[in-house]
Amino acid sequence: MSVLKLIRPRVLAAIKIASPAAGEIATVADCAYTNSWISAKSNAPLPFGDIQVRGLLQAAKRLKLDPHQFAAAVIEHLDLGDIGTAKVDGPGFVNIRLNDSYLENRLQEVFWKGDERYGVEEVKQRVIIDYSSPNLAKEMHVGHLRSTIIGDALHRIHRFVGSEVIAQNHVGDWGTQFGMLIAHVNDAETHVDLDQLQGLEQLYVQAKVRFDAEPEFKERARDNVVKLQAGDPEMKEQWLKIVDVSLRHAQKIYDTLDTLLTRNDVCGESFYNDDLPKVVEDLTACGLLVVDGGAKVVFTPEFAKDFGKNKPVFMVQKSGDGFGYAATDLGAIRYRVRTLKGDRLLYVIDNRQSLHLRQLFDVASRAGFLPPSVSAAHVGFGTMMGRDKKPFKTRDGGTIKLAELIAEAQERAYVLAKKKDATRTKGDPFTEAELKDIGNKVGVGAIKYADLSKHRDKDYMFDFDLMLQFEGNTAPYLMYAYTRARSVARGAAATAADVAASTTVESLTATISTATLAPSTSLSPSSTPTPQAVKLAHHAEHNLAVTLLQFPDELNTVLDTSLTHHLCTYLYRLAQAYTQFYSVCPVLRAPDQETRDSRLALCDATAQMLKTGLGLLGISVLEVM
Ligand code: ARG
Repeated sequence: MSVLKLIRPRVLAAIKIASPAAGEIATVADCAYTNSWISAKSNAPLPFGDIQVRGLLQAAKRLKLDPHQFAAAVIEHLDLGDIGTAKVDGPGFVNIRLNDSYLENRLQEVFWKGDERYGVEEVKQRVIIDYSSPNLAKEMHVGHLRSTIIGDALHRIHRFVGSEVIAQNHVGDWGTQFGMLIAHVNDAETHVDLDQLQGLEQLYVQAKVRFDAEPEFKERARDNVVKLQAGDPEMKEQWLKIVDVSLRHAQKIYDTLDTLLTRNDVCGESFYNDDLPKVVEDLTACGLLVVDGGAKVVFTPEFAKDFGKNKPVFMVQKSGDGFGYAATDLGAIRYRVRTLKGDRLLYVIDNRQSLHLRQLFDVASRAGFLPPSVSAAHVGFGTMMGRDKKPFKTRDGGTIKLAELIAEAQERAYVLAKKKDATRTKGDPFTEAELKDIGNKVGVGAIKYADLSKHRDKDYMFDFDLMLQFEGNTAPYLMYAYTRARSVARGAAATAADVAASTTVESLTATISTATLAPSTSLSPSSTPTPQAVKLAHHAEHNLAVTLLQFPDELNTVLDTSLTHHLCTYLYRLAQAYTQFYSVCPVLRAPDQETRDSRLALCDATAQMLKTGLGLLGISVLEVM
């Protein structure tokens, strides 16, 4: 259960008694974490509470109430039970401090009783996520990276809360590019055996040159498309082979990136081919489709300003041409609603297609393809920029291939890991295989995290150096925070016997430091839930506990907004709370066994949370690095 959700109705009830008029204001009882420990010195008392009621001041102002008196009246009627205590701060803020005993119990429930959702309420929806969706026949490039990464994180997050997720990889597997390739391949002088084909990039480039230069070739390519769309068996066979090569290439990238996508998730444009005449029929029947200068269109006057001088239309079929992108998306949305029975449709697509999607949802609603009971949203994102703040390109202006980009991140991470390992003073150095594994995971993690931690709407700058830093809001920092939290437990396990016998601090420290640093020390990767006795005494422990229990609220925000950076910021904050705690609260050298156990439990909870949170972003942690 989310702490904020628990508190808000109680606050609202108190407000309604204090001032019924204030109770009517929608935002009056908005509660938020203050996270004020971030600015506080770790050994200073907390300046404010853990949670602040926002909106009281504004409400008081609007209703001409004395803010301080109003806040005091709210507190008088506020029944928080054993959750926490409230007080008035400043001109009329209500701040709530959560009780340690309440936090201790919640930690038990969330971390050591097998709660797989870590306090997040179950959601049982069917969520359809359209993501990745590259255009086949060409090699995948950076433009599809963001969609793949963001879509995959959302996939994991919805699945985590209990929803059924259906991924739809709406690949561009239909249209001109295939007619072109088939024409090129069939030319005697090209000498291509489709059964032996490894890659398509070069063929595609050659075919495109000819398509643009030779009218006869262009004609043949067009013919092929018409034949293909009419179901010509020979065309179909060749088309299938090309699609297969392309999809195998994409799948390799999905696997390297450690995404959930498989071939089963592919449901491309071609899938809707046979349904498109029916889409047109239905649009005509409900009076939406009009013929305008030979083209079949739906008027969307609502978007007139986006069209300037042009007619605001949704182009279903251009004159003398096959069905287009829009028609296919109308077929797809209908399929997702009627056949897949989605409750919620998400489209993870570049912001440049935002008008297309607004029109799609508008036309689909009017045509009855998208009923009000189903929500549809464009999860848009900005362009990936290079360090020169221009769209990410190779030095000579070409598109950067995804496979090469990922390989470079992994190579750089490997070099960093090797460098770091060379400075190690204790324990065995990593083997070459271990370094490679670290490089691969950190490289992929860094690419994903750099993307997911930014507000997705904005353009974002791709910078290897920044994303691979071990400090700051990066994947390596968080992955490392995880191994640090785990190594404390390892240290404890390795010294369990010595601790009992040990009398001098020095001998204990020596044992601990070797145990902590030895990469070969293995421990089961995920901790089994066993009841832990947490006692929160120090305020750094209190802050860590409050942060650990914020997870459900943060995840709810991500579920509502599809903005993954909220989860990233949260994990970063958690790692900071942990660092602060660790720097002022000795764990293995705690003053007594009870404190030590309690602090070890906090380390364990932190590790569990970091692993879970990173896992939801599609980033797998390392036990040692
Ligand atoms: N293939 C398209 C592109 O690369 C993206 C498809 C997105 N999904 C959709 N249903 N329109 O631009």
